[in-house]
Amino acid sequence: MLLQFKVYLISIIYFLGILFMILFPPRNFRQSGAKIRKIRSTPNVLKYPNYVDPKALLSIASQFSNDESEVVRTVLLTPNTYENRSIVAIELRSDKQSKKPGVLVIGALNGMAWGALNAILELADKLLFDANYQTPFFNDYDWYLIPTANPDGIQFTQDIRSRQPLEISQWSRNLTARSKTRPVEWHKNVDKDLEKDTCFGTNINRNFAYHWQDDVHKKPDLCSQSYPGSRPFSTAESQAIRTYLDGLGESIQLAIHLHASFVPKKEYILYPWRYSLRQPSNYRALQEIGEYAARQARLPDGRLYQVHQGSNDARVAGTLSDYMSGVVGIDLVFIIKPYHEPFPNYTDASLLETYVRKSITTILSVVRGWRSSTKQNTLSFFGKDVEF
Ligand SMILES: *[C@@H]1O[C@H](CO)[C@@H](O)[C@H](O)[C@H]1NC(C)=O
Ligand SMILES: *[C@@H]1O[C@H](CO)[C@@H](O)[C@H](O)[C@H]1NC(C)=O
Ligand SMILES: *[C@@H]1O[C@H](CO)[C@@H](O)[C@H](O)[C@H]1NC(C)=O
Repeated sequence: MLLQFKVYLISIIYFLGILFMILFPPRNFRQSGAKIRKIRSTPNVLKYPNYVDPKALLSIASQFSNDESEVVRTVLLTPNTYENRSIVAIELRSDKQSKKPGVLVIGALNGMAWGALNAILELADKLLFDANYQTPFFNDYDWYLIPTANPDGIQFTQDIRSRQPLEISQWSRNLTARSKTRPVEWHKNVDKDLEKDTCFGTNINRNFAYHWQDDVHKKPDLCSQSYPGSRPFSTAESQAIRTYLDGLGESIQLAIHLHASFVPKKEYILYPWRYSLRQPSNYRALQEIGEYAARQARLPDGRLYQVHQGSNDARVAGTLSDYMSGVVGIDLVFIIKPYHEPFPNYTDASLLETYVRKSITTILSVVRGWRSSTKQNTLSFFGKDVEF
């Protein structure tokens, strides 16, 4: 008798549930981008096995938006750079009807981080076509991807890559030597101020208007690799990023600067502030997400990323990450620094592949860390969190 009653009750509840679904279908049930996606069986090889240069980037990006116009938009940021190149943004939105939490990834602000272009293009490709990445990463977020914010610097270093290296201060001073050699390192763009000096280039990651120059007593000269520009936002690159971020408004919840470490076995996940030892107000959340990501993205040799506030190693002012946090007001900002050899062997695909794989894993681990910290899409089963 009791059993029958229960069966009736359950049937009625089910019936009411179905009726409710029919009368009030879930929002975006029809428009949801999730089911229109093609799935390509991606064997575990890279789509872009060779270093992508700024020109190739432009054509790959426009191909994305031509082939997948439903979900991809390519934006050319303005103004153009000193050598008249556009900074390219690739926007991936699985569902145009609704706004999802926005993730911004900006790569290769540094002139030597060649692999960042590949890493971000590869990430876009996986989000679009690989079933393992579509759910949850593509379907649950809007992605704003800038493979390089320093196309001039990337082009410059790639063009001179096969020359003999020369110590930086000699290279800066000796014009005869300069034509046949390359500097051992190059962290800048190629902005020139011909009247002033033979040295050129501004470090874009010192050029943002947030506590600009707060880290030093004396401004580094034009020959220095950390030359911050004549004033904040003197570079076209930082202006273009500022304008783009202004246009995005409140869309971005998580911002990642995909950087590179040029020292072996020194790999980091960092967060603001970089200009000051003062801790940000959400310090604890940033450290927790960073540590979660580091555990998930354990390095191939078993080490973990070092996770801490950026200024713990050295105070650096005028950076993109501090600007995004302090001025734009994005809550969660991270700097990811996997190892990248300076001027690597251009034809050795294995070095590139290592950096690309590490970068993608780490970016997605940060997103996972964020999900887990907000308990988004997790259920507690007997005290254990299960993601679905
Ligand atoms: C810069 O490039 C744009 C196309 O991106 C072109 O229309 C313009 O003429 C170029 N400007 C210069 C000074 O070369
Ligand atoms: C500049 O470099 C050339 C070799 O490329 C060298 O012969 C010359 O002595 C250098 N000049 C100075 C002032 O160091
Ligand atoms: C660069 O890598 C390629 C492919 O691994 C190799 O054949 C070549 O010898 C390397 N060149 C140098 C200078 O190490």
